[in-house]
Amino acid sequence: MTRRQYLAAAILSGTLACTKKNAMDERLDIHSYATPAEVRVKHLELDLEVDFSSRQLRGTVTHTLIRTNTDAPLTLDTRDLKIDKVETAANAQGPFQPTQFTLGQRDAILGAPLSITLPSEAAAVRVHYSTAPTATALQWLDPAQTAGKQRPFLYTQSQAIHARSWIPLQDTPSVRTTYRARIRTPKDLIALMSARADFRLANPKEEPTGDYTFRMPQAIPSYLIALAVGQLEFRYIGSRTGVWAEPSIVKLAESEFEDMERMVSAAEKLAGPYAWNRYDVLVLPPSFPFGGMENPLMTFATPTILAGDKSLVSLVAHEMAHSWSGNLVTNATFRDFWLNEGFTTYFERRMLEEVYGVERARMEAVLGRQELEAEMATLPEADRILHIDLKGRDPDDGATLVPYEKGALFVTALEQAFGREKFDAFLLAYFARFKFQSITTAQFTAFLKTHLLDKDPAAAAKIPLEEWIERPGLPASAPQPKCESFAPVEAIAKQWASADAPQTKPATAGWNTHQWIHFLRALPKTMDASRLTALDKTFGFSKSGNSEILFQWLMIAVRNNYAPARPKIEEFLTHVGRRKFVKPLFESLVKTPEGVAFAKAIFAKARPTYHSITATTVDDILKAVKQ
Ligand code: BES
Ligand code: ZN
Repeated sequence: MTRRQYLAAAILSGTLACTKKNAMDERLDIHSYATPAEVRVKHLELDLEVDFSSRQLRGTVTHTLIRTNTDAPLTLDTRDLKIDKVETAANAQGPFQPTQFTLGQRDAILGAPLSITLPSEAAAVRVHYSTAPTATALQWLDPAQTAGKQRPFLYTQSQAIHARSWIPLQDTPSVRTTYRARIRTPKDLIALMSARADFRLANPKEEPTGDYTFRMPQAIPSYLIALAVGQLEFRYIGSRTGVWAEPSIVKLAESEFEDMERMVSAAEKLAGPYAWNRYDVLVLPPSFPFGGMENPLMTFATPTILAGDKSLVSLVAHEMAHSWSGNLVTNATFRDFWLNEGFTTYFERRMLEEVYGVERARMEAVLGRQELEAEMATLPEADRILHIDLKGRDPDDGATLVPYEKGALFVTALEQAFGREKFDAFLLAYFARFKFQSITTAQFTAFLKTHLLDKDPAAAAKIPLEEWIERPGLPASAPQPKCESFAPVEAIAKQWASADAPQTKPATAGWNTHQWIHFLRALPKTMDASRLTALDKTFGFSKSGNSEILFQWLMIAVRNNYAPARPKIEEFLTHVGRRKFVKPLFESLVKTPEGVAFAKAIFAKARPTYHSITATTVDDILKAVKQ
């Protein structure tokens, strides 16, 4: 070997060793106590009873294990669970024998590790447990909080790390498991899960029995395990799509989502075959803290997207897109969350383009960048990074618009640099290569380099990769989405900003929801009460049945301390628990002393109706107010 060859080899092996070490560090999930390199759960079985009177889930979970280090205990994540007994067996069929376990100290973010001693032959572990009424993943609703007002409701929200508050498990997206479940509920209620439901497969018209079984034969991360229980009805949309909702709104939902089957086809064209059997949407009561959650086979959604004109269905496109980016190819840790949300946001707009035309997708991209820039200006630099450092933090804190909209701009930049044809081929290859795997940012960039960047160095030179992924803010070369529909909107907003309130109703005839949102955002930051009264009289914003338009209007009202809007603000905030709406309204309210008093009065009524995620968000806003 020549000296040069030797050096080259040394450098190469050094780099490789170093990459390997980094790759291991990258996979380490700081938000879980699990040690999957030693013992890994590959399948779990739930057997739970849903008790509305004590607001508890009670029963067992049985884990099937792969043991790499036979000396190591099994460590599960838990939060506020009561552990009654732990047993082990040579396999999931038993017989089970009691074993030793210790529940460690509770960490405010992570919860408590449950360490289970494993006899040498054990390959299955059964935990007997019950949940706390305050479990962070669960929301127990009184009948009054439902559309029907007759029966109670329960739903789970496991992402990011709330699954551990209703199941003791390895709560990290780097571990994937299949699952089965048996759920017992009051007899007249229906249980749904992110899995195949045995009862409805057999007969969609079957009467509820209160005893349901489910199976998820494809390995998924823990944050996608989901359960909902309530008075629910189903309607088919297409042959493999449908909607579940409370009886009084199921018809509305059915027509709102009528394009779902076409959306699935559009997505398949882009990303490959739909892997999950059916795609259904469950419309939840309005306290649901999110717009949507991509639970496999069964997206959970807020009813605030039922606008009556399909104008807010991009949310369905988004959650459906997660069937590929997120559920098929999953972020290995919540540092890599942008891989889930950035690709999905990009992908959502490609689907909209296919189904509703390119202008619709462009409007959403313009609004997206606008919102991103506004939010980014308020974030610390470190939170403007895609590959965010979440050390010591709750992963829910990372869910800003950065992973979504900056992520989507990055993917769009790639598309623009390499052209759609090459980029689409790359996307298909990406999903095919990593399907049913959980991957890190480093794994993605390695694949990106070999399958796209290295193949066309001239195009690659346009992509400041390191800057996109590891540095705060947007590169100067970031795409600037443009659309035609907003120019007339801006012209009229300008008129409303000038001295005389104009009569412009005819000019706005036929505007779509996105144009209205843009209009409201383009109005001057401060306006006096007479101008606001004229605006509302002309356009009727305060009566809008569209939650996004109403929200924008209420933001303006709060910002300008516009007293006539107070009853509407109170009604909205005591009815809707979607954090995207609730958080900015409270943040804006607390900026004035009268606002603080009003906010506290509303929150006193609303807090019991909010999901813990929304409730603690508002707690923090009010805590930060100087007394
Ligand atoms: N997976 C997210 C929701 C989520 C993220 C829950 C992080 C918990 C932690 C979901 O796909 C999502 O992004 N929902 C958005 C709607 C979307 C159209 C931007 C939401 O809920 O607002
Ligand atoms: Zn998402």
